[in-house]
Amino acid sequence: MKNILNAQWIKFPKVALEKEIYFTRKFDINKELVSASLEITALGVYFAEINGERVGNCIFAPGWTSYHKRLQVETYDVTDFIKKNNEIKVAVAPGWKGYNHFSRNGSDCYLGQNEMAMLCALTMEFADGEKRIITSGGDWKCEFGKNVYTQFYNGYVYNPAYVDISPEKAVIFPHNNKILLDRQGERIIEQERLAAKEIIITPKGETVIDFGQNMTGYVEFRIKGNKGERAVISHAEVLDAEGNFYTDNLRSAKAQAIFVCDGKEHIHKSQHNFFGFRYIRLENWSDEVKKENFTAVVVHSELKRTGYFECSDPRVNKLFSNIIWGQKGNFLDVPTDCPQRDERLGWTGDAQVFVKTASYNFDVERFFTKWLADLRADQTDWGSIPSVIPDVFSQDDSCSAAWADASTICPWQIYQTYNNRKILEDSVESMENYIEFIEGKSENGIWSRSWHFGDWLNLDGSSPEDCSKGTEKNLIATAYYIYSSNILIKTKELLGKDASEHKAKREASIAAFRREFMENGRIKPEFATQTACVLAVYFGISDNIAETAKQLNELVTECGHLKTGFVGTPYLLHALSENGYAETAYGLLLREEYPSWLFSVKMGATTIWEHWDSMREDGSMWDTSMNSFNHYAYGSVADWLYGVAAGINIDETKPGFEHIIIKPVTDSRLTFVNATIDTRKGVVKSGWKTENGKTTYSVEIPEGATATVIIGGETTEIGAGKYEF
Ligand code: BGC
Repeated sequence: MKNILNAQWIKFPKVALEKEIYFTRKFDINKELVSASLEITALGVYFAEINGERVGNCIFAPGWTSYHKRLQVETYDVTDFIKKNNEIKVAVAPGWKGYNHFSRNGSDCYLGQNEMAMLCALTMEFADGEKRIITSGGDWKCEFGKNVYTQFYNGYVYNPAYVDISPEKAVIFPHNNKILLDRQGERIIEQERLAAKEIIITPKGETVIDFGQNMTGYVEFRIKGNKGERAVISHAEVLDAEGNFYTDNLRSAKAQAIFVCDGKEHIHKSQHNFFGFRYIRLENWSDEVKKENFTAVVVHSELKRTGYFECSDPRVNKLFSNIIWGQKGNFLDVPTDCPQRDERLGWTGDAQVFVKTASYNFDVERFFTKWLADLRADQTDWGSIPSVIPDVFSQDDSCSAAWADASTICPWQIYQTYNNRKILEDSVESMENYIEFIEGKSENGIWSRSWHFGDWLNLDGSSPEDCSKGTEKNLIATAYYIYSSNILIKTKELLGKDASEHKAKREASIAAFRREFMENGRIKPEFATQTACVLAVYFGISDNIAETAKQLNELVTECGHLKTGFVGTPYLLHALSENGYAETAYGLLLREEYPSWLFSVKMGATTIWEHWDSMREDGSMWDTSMNSFNHYAYGSVADWLYGVAAGINIDETKPGFEHIIIKPVTDSRLTFVNATIDTRKGVVKSGWKTENGKTTYSVEIPEGATATVIIGGETTEIGAGKYEF
């Protein structure tokens, strides 16, 4: 990033809410060009064309950051695009900057105004040594584009025949260039193309196409239609009990792609919008509907796939596939809760519970490095962490336990998976401010003076009216404080800093937790939920882990199923299997009646649902107020599949898989398990199979790594190579 720093921000002179704008400039060259590069960014989302050819393959650039404070710049090599007479065109649409369900005053949630703006510098070097730089400025033309309406939640209207008959001169938009940075995250690009599986005429008589997979992206379609006709594609994740197209769960998001036909044939796809969908419905479609005219384009951040798991139960394999698809659908520059309804936000709690699984499934080091930089940028001056990052709620003071802990848990996991010490160096101050914020909200070691989401969507007491009843919130909050402050202590010690004060406060909090919520090694009856036991066990808070784990096992076996929400679910199976109750843990994993992970699989899910019963046995739905079919949070169970079923674990003291603990736990209901993780050290494999009552284990350790293998109580130290036990 160089010359863009001297460019001027430009915007449209008229109000351009929910519209696309083209900024254009013509220029000629008359000598031999050696190189040309385009540095560019926008407030909004953009793509650039030179002489009608699209520059690069990024979509939704410059991505989503805390726009007030950090804005990414992309640099493209455009040498091959430049001719004698040239036109550069940049199309800008509101994207994440546009109207947002949660934004104040129902309008633009950034910068307090409805403006989209663009900044760029085209640098050309010629054979004779001359350098010419064309920057955005008052000499650019601007006009409305063919996306005559575009807004992330509602979708878009594309009119190929539209031409703005009164283009104007761009106006200079004073803005701060200090917020610019070279792209820090991964690019968002088109990743996969899925053919249409089936054309359905629903009981209502509507024409629906099924792509067989819930996903995030858009549909590329061939269309001619009749001139002036507005062909409408609507998007849905599921069909209802009667088999009709169901969009009530999208809340206010219209999620439509509307194409204004001009009587000519077009192959069209979205330019500035994405949808969460498996099905599309066609309306005002006068062409014959053929499957080959529709292809779903899957988009997400460009992440390398690193983790694989399979076992002898095809239902678990489908669950694993659904977890992978949940991550694809929600890792679109920011880890979001869901990709379809009028939300699609970087909820911290969701990211925190899933980060370990995420970092095994895909290489997310860069992805989280960027998001955590936004988290730090949006942290309040008094240390609290907003519930969504980027913070579209405008720094309100809510700081919920288990959500705000993304500020400690995510950097620690990125350090663990990738041995990235820098992320700890960058995060330690933010972690410390957060921990001190909690201490200021605590009384006698109990975090008691904040509002919390609680064990969100648990089954102890939640209903559409209140999703956070159930486990006592101060218990959850204090447990998370104890866990997060331990991460801060480990981080400080690793970086050679004194952590004694934090240690003392943490010890006092552990004592307070035991005094307030426990007796005789068990959670007191009035606080005894599965989640309460899980936290006391997994976070090592109980003074009698074996007894609290026993209590957890009793609570699970007495009711026969899990009751945990966002807070308890990620650690439930771990808390059981680490303490002698692997059979109960496997029982929960393999159960297919509601509530369980496999219930959604039985119901035909292709991604992870927000609720244990997003759709019920009879096809009826959870309340329309909040019901996503692509919410990755409960997919966090994959870290148990990798770590316990297949037994691949990071040694915390030698992170980045330098030393690996292989500790598989078998179960008679499975005959084989295999997992692979492509780590920074190389490929790690672990698996087992049982034949004629005999179990054989196979392990593969990459060069430069060592492992401790623990099987049947026996411990073996190994180096790189392939082994059988
Ligand atoms: C989101 C969640 C999020 C929650 C806060 C919901 O609307 O979809 O996943 O964590 O709000 O509790």
